[in-house]
Amino acid sequence: MDEVLVLMEGIEKRFPGVHALSQCQFELRAGEVHALVGENGAGKSTLMKVLTGVYKKDAGRIFYKGKEVEIPNPRAAQELGISIIHQELNLMPHLTVAQNIFIGREPRKGIKFILNENEINEKTKELFEMMHLDLDPRIRVSDLTVAKQQMVEIAKALSYNSEVLIMDEPTSALSDAEIEELFRIIRQLRDKGVGIIYISHRMEELKQISDRVTVMRDGRYIDTVRTEEVTIDRIINMMVGREIYETSRANPETNSQDVVLEVKNLNRGREIKDVSFNLKKGEILGFAGLMGAGRTEVARAIFGADPIDSGEIYVKGKKINIKSPGDAVKCGIGYLSEDRKRYGLALGMDVESNIVLANFEKFLGFLGRVNTAKTRAEAQLHVDELSIKTPSLQQKVKYLSGGNQQKVVIGKWLVRDCDILIFDEPTRGIDVGAKSEIYKLLNDLAESGKSIIMISSELPEILRMSHRIIVMCEGRITGELSTAEATQERIMQYATMRE
Ligand SMILES: Nc1ncnc2c1ncn2[C@@H]1O[C@H](COP(=O)(O)OP(=O)(O)OP(=O)(O)O)[C@@H](O)[C@H]1O
Ligand SMILES: [Mg+2]
Repeated sequence: MDEVLVLMEGIEKRFPGVHALSQCQFELRAGEVHALVGENGAGKSTLMKVLTGVYKKDAGRIFYKGKEVEIPNPRAAQELGISIIHQELNLMPHLTVAQNIFIGREPRKGIKFILNENEINEKTKELFEMMHLDLDPRIRVSDLTVAKQQMVEIAKALSYNSEVLIMDEPTSALSDAEIEELFRIIRQLRDKGVGIIYISHRMEELKQISDRVTVMRDGRYIDTVRTEEVTIDRIINMMVGREIYETSRANPETNSQDVVLEVKNLNRGREIKDVSFNLKKGEILGFAGLMGAGRTEVARAIFGADPIDSGEIYVKGKKINIKSPGDAVKCGIGYLSEDRKRYGLALGMDVESNIVLANFEKFLGFLGRVNTAKTRAEAQLHVDELSIKTPSLQQKVKYLSGGNQQKVVIGKWLVRDCDILIFDEPTRGIDVGAKSEIYKLLNDLAESGKSIIMISSELPEILRMSHRIIVMCEGRITGELSTAEATQERIMQYATMRE
């Protein structure tokens, strides 16, 4: 057996109102990829933050290569050789890619290390070459897509040449090709003896990349198993500990002829090229395609978040002129962004405010005062409906686990009661149990007469949820499929149909 790099025992961590970790243990060996799985809020990120000195443990012991260590801050972890790619991206948007990678590297042992632009750009380029990543080190991070930002985070962690590398949901925003690239890098590092801790909600990845899996549930350690000796169903079972909602049957095409949204010849620069389609009442219209196909751009254009060059949009037969998201909401169109941190949430505010505040007109009572009993009741309703894991409605959103933050964004849009909802990657970062709850919710919304556009990069999700599927490639619509004729292969054909 290979050397044990990290051993954690009896780890305890409490936050106000939350027992986040209770008697947790974890072992990582050199040269293994060790997956860490569990539902949203199970404690995965917290355990890793204890290991990397972001949080102080309340009790328990950590051993590094057999010696007991204290890890009081992130610097101490870094010095031991432990690097982490956090779930929520931590880049400085106004700095360049290269500056982000080399930021905060203090001069060591008195030697002054001056950040020379040319030098860091050069070094970054070398790093990207190793990753087969085509990206200019001088670009500002704010100009990058979420996927590219994630690749920059990965590059940054790699640049430390650590012996332990923790990846907290590294693939949640990556395309299949980028994931393949990441796996290649992971295998390369593993073969060099690096120990890798891999957190993911994509169950199919576990079989592809991990050697062992540790399962957590409700802040507790459940078990560690060798991946080859266990089925995915068994892992899900350990994670969830209960039966989950399953619709194996795909949604049939709707026979509704009632067109609620019609988009005609939409154009915007090189991102959107002559896009036309319609959406019917009660329909879930899937938008498939590779990263960068232009799906988010179309959504943002319809929602008035970006201006368009030309094109027409009709809602229930009436031509509308959307100049801003405010206009879109007035026309009954809602958009759940894929980038929840930037557009979706006020992280410093509590759960209740995030769900209801953007819609507070709905809660104005006597003398224009906000009716707090009403806001509370409505927020609680959605917290229950979405099983948002939070100690109370007053918890600040930044303290929720990643998946639960995503659910808050969904709750916020449910309050608005829009007839047309655009969901952009609605289940990204969401665990299997919660995913099926969201699927059920989407189906219920459609059945109650709402119309939904669902952008998703997960083909099984597109196939399972859509009544009809539109495929995009390089800004154009390259195909439309009924659920009867849709297969992963056919979607991929259209998704790669370049001009
Ligand atoms: N700083 C904090 N303050 C208060 N509570 C916190 C804090 N950090 C985490 N928690 C709580 O601890 C629990 C575990 O959260 P954690 O982020 O570790 O979950 P996770 O397993 O990473 O979930 P996800 O898959 O959604 O990312 C959750 O109930 C969360 O709300
Ligand atoms: Mg997490």
